Amino acid sequence: MGSVFFDSTISDKERRNRLYAGDIFIISATEGTRALADFARKMLEEAFSPHDPRTIHEHKTAEEVAAILGKLKPQFIHDPFCKRMVAQIMLENGVGVEKLYFDVPRMRSAYPSHFLSSGIAYAFHPHRDTWYSAPMCQLNWWMPIYPLEPDNAMGFYPRYFDEPIHNSSDTYNYYEWNAKNRASAAQHVKTDTRVQPKAQQPLEPQTVRFLPPPGGIIVFSAAHLHESVPNTTDLARYSIDFRTVHYDDVVARRGAPNIDSRCTGTSIRDFLRATDLSTLPDQAVALHDDDTAKGKDVLYFGDKLVKELSS
Ligand SMILES: [Fe+2]
Repeated sequence: MGSVFFDSTISDKERRNRLYAGDIFIISATEGTRALADFARKMLEEAFSPHDPRTIHEHKTAEEVAAILGKLKPQFIHDPFCKRMVAQIMLENGVGVEKLYFDVPRMRSAYPSHFLSSGIAYAFHPHRDTWYSAPMCQLNWWMPIYPLEPDNAMGFYPRYFDEPIHNSSDTYNYYEWNAKNRASAAQHVKTDTRVQPKAQQPLEPQTVRFLPPPGGIIVFSAAHLHESVPNTTDLARYSIDFRTVHYDDVVARRGAPNIDSRCTGTSIRDFLRATDLSTLPDQAVALHDDDTAKGKDVLYFGDKLVKELSS
């Protein structure tokens, strides 16, 4: 990793190239990000009323919270307002939306340690999204819904952006994961037995934590090693993130260098065009796929499977 940019005005193309090289961009809140964060905060406050969502662990059991999140998170994911706001946020940041594809925005939660850190509120260990079949041109956009603390934020391990790590990504196939595991996320309340790609070597435990205000965004390459910092505060953390790919980079196979990901399958079918929510053309998908794709129903996660799970 080289640089961290704040409210940069460089072009989207130059920004993408810098992100693929490991730079990170922090962007101040805009009308669109504020609207999306407010929408999520209101949903949380209604679902946990009369309690503050940040202290809900003092009032409800882990099972009760998991049951509420099991309904709330899919509702957030497939609300049309969220997709409209992603397109708006792209426009506000100088991204050409006709070539921009995004994966549905997700709401995440991180509760004080040992309360609820598996399944539906999985506390992610250090990982690259590219160990989970993300395309190398994927960019992640992440924003907090409430003010962050250093100990309930996201942690980055910048030195590993260009340093390979022994890891178990070769055990991960995106289609198998969709078929077997995602449907059961809400059931893994206390322990999570799902096999996930992990580092298989000790890591230097130095993380960098960026703390933008609510609605501020951290943009980073899916190849960056990052984690949910174990939450040692008394407050739950809630955040929103979504992923994007740019058509030109998908077809040119431009992106971050793949230094250690060996997973199979691809999540690229989940991305929807910002203008009309169409998926990427088959020829573009084929450039990123391998021979592990079989049944039609396991190829996507996105909105389609979420609707099935929540109906
Ligand atoms: Fe991640």
